[in-house]
Amino acid sequence: MAIGLYSAGIIGTGSYLPEKVITNKDLEQIVDTSNEWIVKRTGIRERRIAEDCQATSDLATNAALLALEDAELTAKDIDLILIATSTPDMPFPSTACIVQHNIKAENSAAFDLEAACSGFIYALNTAHQYIATGFYKNILVIGAECLSRITNWKDRRTCVLFGDGAGAAVVSRVKNGYGFLSHYLGADGSGAAALNVKAGGSRMPATLETIEQNYHTIYMDGSEVFKFAVRIMSTAAEEALRLAGLEKESIDYLIPHQANIRIIENAAKRLNLSMAKVFFNIDKYGNMSAASIPVALDEAVKSGKIKKGDNVCLVGFGAGLTWGSSILKWHK
Ligand code: UT7
Repeated sequence: MAIGLYSAGIIGTGSYLPEKVITNKDLEQIVDTSNEWIVKRTGIRERRIAEDCQATSDLATNAALLALEDAELTAKDIDLILIATSTPDMPFPSTACIVQHNIKAENSAAFDLEAACSGFIYALNTAHQYIATGFYKNILVIGAECLSRITNWKDRRTCVLFGDGAGAAVVSRVKNGYGFLSHYLGADGSGAAALNVKAGGSRMPATLETIEQNYHTIYMDGSEVFKFAVRIMSTAAEEALRLAGLEKESIDYLIPHQANIRIIENAAKRLNLSMAKVFFNIDKYGNMSAASIPVALDEAVKSGKIKKGDNVCLVGFGAGLTWGSSILKWHK
């Protein structure tokens, strides 16, 4: 599928994980859980947690600088900073503006985009449109989260799942035939009740009661989201393949959202992919929402698992409900 005047692709990646590690054993001390349950049901062994002094923009800034270095560009070359996050530093200004100032990207516009765990795919798609039309040349796309700040540390059903981190990609023009071949995005707002943070917005502003009720932390109907995830991961990947004119067998490498190893394995099975062609780091980092896919992509690229000419499929799902997938032919 030809999209626009110019081909666009990812010319550099970077990621940053806070140093502090919380293991499943640590969680056994604070909620009624066990390392065995967490590993068996999710695949997670540990996760990173930001220091008290770190906000989402700090994680994003570190990832952004590494992606710029990898792309051999300077901050002045960036036309737009686009951050996918559900945990901005504050309601406004955008976290993207804070990062723009931190990295001194003085020629750049900046805004945040919210599509929960699908946010990075939504942001890549958005960046692609600007590059394809020639409107912008270089866009910094970042997925960054401090989920620890909206986690209910007394709820064993959710607190074992999440972690903090940031991943970044520079999206720019690439040679024809390389870069993004297709995107597929979707949403179903009827599923909003399955996964949300109830308070802190215009519907339910912060009060003493909302704090006492833990309405500022993540609520999730785990099994509902699980059923949706299993169905949508393979469907979304197949739709992107169809739009790119490719068959399942053409996928050289799959970078899925890291929510649960059972969801990832199921998607691989439905796509007839061996797990050797699927990247996962959920054991080390848990679910980092919008940061999961860019961190996984960076680690896959830097470890040499993705090579020039590979067809890479990125696929994710999340609150909204939302989902998205992208196919790109790696060009570096
Ligand atoms: O990226 C955002 C999207 N989020 C997701 O994709 C998450 C999707 N959902 C899941 O990954 C899974 O549903 C969970 C990992 C959240 C839960 O796994 P599950 O196999 O669906 O467990 P469950 O919710 O059916 O609970 C089974 C049992 C329950 O006990 P009873 O009622 O059978 O006695 C839970 O209370 O496991 C219990 N349980 C736990 N036990 C020990 C739930 N959490 C824990 C825990 N430790 N942390």
